[in-house]
Amino acid sequence: MIAVTGATGQLGTLVIEALLKTVPANQIIAAVRTPSKAKAFADKGVQVREADYARPETLASAFSGATKVLLISGNEVGQRVPQHKAVIDAAKKAGVQLLAYTSLLKADTTGLLLGTEHVATEQYLQASGVPYSLLRNGWYTENITPGIAPALQQGAFIGATKEGRIAAATRAEYAAAAAAVLTGEGHENTIYELAGDNAFTRAEFAAEVSKQTGKTIGYHDLPEQEYAAILATFLPHGMAPILADAEAKAANGALDDNSHTLSKLIGHPTAPFADAIADALKAL
Ligand SMILES: NC(=O)c1ccc[n+]([C@@H]2O[C@H](COP(=O)([O-])OP(=O)(O)OC[C@H]3O[C@@H](n4cnc5c(N)ncnc54)[C@H](OP(=O)(O)O)[C@@H]3O)[C@@H](O)[C@H]2O)c1
Repeated sequence: MIAVTGATGQLGTLVIEALLKTVPANQIIAAVRTPSKAKAFADKGVQVREADYARPETLASAFSGATKVLLISGNEVGQRVPQHKAVIDAAKKAGVQLLAYTSLLKADTTGLLLGTEHVATEQYLQASGVPYSLLRNGWYTENITPGIAPALQQGAFIGATKEGRIAAATRAEYAAAAAAVLTGEGHENTIYELAGDNAFTRAEFAAEVSKQTGKTIGYHDLPEQEYAAILATFLPHGMAPILADAEAKAANGALDDNSHTLSKLIGHPTAPFADAIADALKAL
């Protein structure tokens, strides 16, 4: 049986959908903080079990019978190390044969603030003795497409990446990679740097939006602090400096990758970013 934590989140939902293509529903465990949110999975025959990272007592039974577990990193930044450790401890007690963890692209070398909790989790997992697969996910394309509507209103995107390239991929592509690892063989003790095939600068992204809309949309690169101050007007507390730091370090390649590991795992190239722009424009 394969268990997926955080299965009611955006990535988790796509992982369950990807697994359902090849795995019988009753062999999938949606391990979720709020089982009432997982009714759609239960209706399909997926086993829904409570698994709250902050309540280790819920984790003990969540992985019973599971041979493989996907730990989807939580979204409570600052709380995640003890939360993830609790999941790893529970998976170890349950005797799982593979624990895959959604980490961050080049987590151990880029120095991103966002990477700190991922590195701590990776180290704990690697020291645990549980066979692991580190799925170091790059930037989601969906981090960038919500900026299209405001850019169309204001005539420009803002960011702090300078000419840095972002090898983004969609959540569905990262989900397909996770499903491939969970259903495949030989992924024990592996580290995968996962990113899209077609990296772009923010200026290139703006140029593609201009091409598809027929409007001239520019890109204004801002100093990190200035960009963080703007992000702080709408992001949850504490996230603005963390995301501005990621943008600034992307100028030096922190969000770029040319290994094509993601497309090799999923068996086809990742979609061009022009497709994500077209989809986002259709949804406006
Ligand atoms: N690579 C990137 O660009 C990028 C961008 C954003 C986030 N991320 C990371 O990737 C993860 C998955 O992305 P996403 O888009 O699916 O995020 P998401 O939609 O926010 O989902 C996060 C999931 O984590 C679950 N969760 C949070 N705290 C939990 C807890 N204490 N116990 C159990 N479950 C808990 C949430 O449960 P509920 O459904 O109950 O809320 C939710 O299912 C994020 O959590 C974050 O670590 C990566």
